[in-house]
Amino acid sequence: MIVAIPKEILPNERRVALIPTTISTLKKNGVEVWVEKGAGAKAQFPDSAYEEAGAKVEESIELLYQNADVVLKVRPPAFHEALNKHEVDLLKPQSVLVSLLDAYFQPETIQKLAEREVTSFALEFLPRITRAQSMDVLSSMSAIAGYRAVVSAAAELPKYFPMLMTAAGTITPAKVFVIGAGVAGLMAIATAKRLGAIVEAYDTRPVVKEQVESVGAKFVELKLDTENAESKGGYAQAQSEEFYQKQQAMMIQYVSSADVVITTAAIPGKKAPRLITDEMVQKMKPGSVIVDLASERGGNVEGTVESEKVIKHGVTLLGYADHPARVAVHSSQLYSKNISTFFVNLLNEGALNLNMEDEIIAHTLVTHKGDIVHAGVKEILRPTENGE
Ligand code: NAI
Repeated sequence: MIVAIPKEILPNERRVALIPTTISTLKKNGVEVWVEKGAGAKAQFPDSAYEEAGAKVEESIELLYQNADVVLKVRPPAFHEALNKHEVDLLKPQSVLVSLLDAYFQPETIQKLAEREVTSFALEFLPRITRAQSMDVLSSMSAIAGYRAVVSAAAELPKYFPMLMTAAGTITPAKVFVIGAGVAGLMAIATAKRLGAIVEAYDTRPVVKEQVESVGAKFVELKLDTENAESKGGYAQAQSEEFYQKQQAMMIQYVSSADVVITTAAIPGKKAPRLITDEMVQKMKPGSVIVDLASERGGNVEGTVESEKVIKHGVTLLGYADHPARVAVHSSQLYSKNISTFFVNLLNEGALNLNMEDEIIAHTLVTHKGDIVHAGVKEILRPTENGE
């Protein structure tokens, strides 16, 4: 079986799906690894390191894909400008693709994968169960994003983060407000705290209060009805428009007094909730910074632009969507460990074994034998099929 690692083609993507040190894990399972020339270069893993680890480095993208029984990627397949071809059309029919597929938001790519008879797995659908923790790319990448969001904010803020007593006077610490205390939010809190800021945080799921406090922030209590804030699976559920308006009104005081606001509020499979209005941005001190981690999903903040830095009412709004790629060495290292563990779980004596009794496999399988088999994605495509 040949497993191929192509170079990621999306702009600003510096990660690679597999790093040289993980190759031995695959080889032990009887798998041969081919890597596109330069695939790891932007993450500081040269071709020579892949060769030393026993992989074949292939210059031709077409040859790489033609020989690949399995392709491991970071980003969903996209149009390859240099080849004037979609990456899905490079995949061999009946081959296997394991990647983040952004399946709820790119159903047309999923349709193409089904038509090409590719067996595809979307890593964003991994259930957050104990056995899948070592495969959980979303957690690994969100933790990096939370850390990097604070680093970006600190670099933009025209102030120190820590309190300092100097011969030239006392510096008051920066105030950081984190909205959404999931994986990214908790890492953002811990990072801001380590830099010396005073940190407050809010989440609609009251159960996270203890976790917020354990990483050093004060949990902000808002008088909102959060009884149905959490689904059975432990994820946040969407709330009504009225709820969000109340939340905005109650958060104004925390947002306006903060030097830095980091927003991470996400609802799986949905557009991000709008939590900060233009009016709230206007109330912040000039020079303050907001990092909107949900920019790819429409943003938590009115006025943020995906992948851009913009200044509104004197406030810097960072809408970067590539925080993990900015820490390419370690994000590739963690991603590589996650994806290889997932892939080895698909194998039985060196051959693919689609055991649908395994909930990890059942949850992540999206297309197989020409069909879309993932219930949630099928549901999204239904209106399109009816032409609505
Ligand atoms: P998560 O699901 O672990 O955490 C999201 C948190 O937001 C949950 O605790 C949830 O309860 C909370 N939340 C939902 N609605 C809320 C509301 N109205 N008010 C306050 N809190 C609310 O998600 P994770 O893994 O921490 O990711 C957070 C975000 O970061 C996601 O949007 C993800 O796509 C994004 N992300 C962005 C990256 C970038 O480069 N910009 C990279 C990686 C992740």
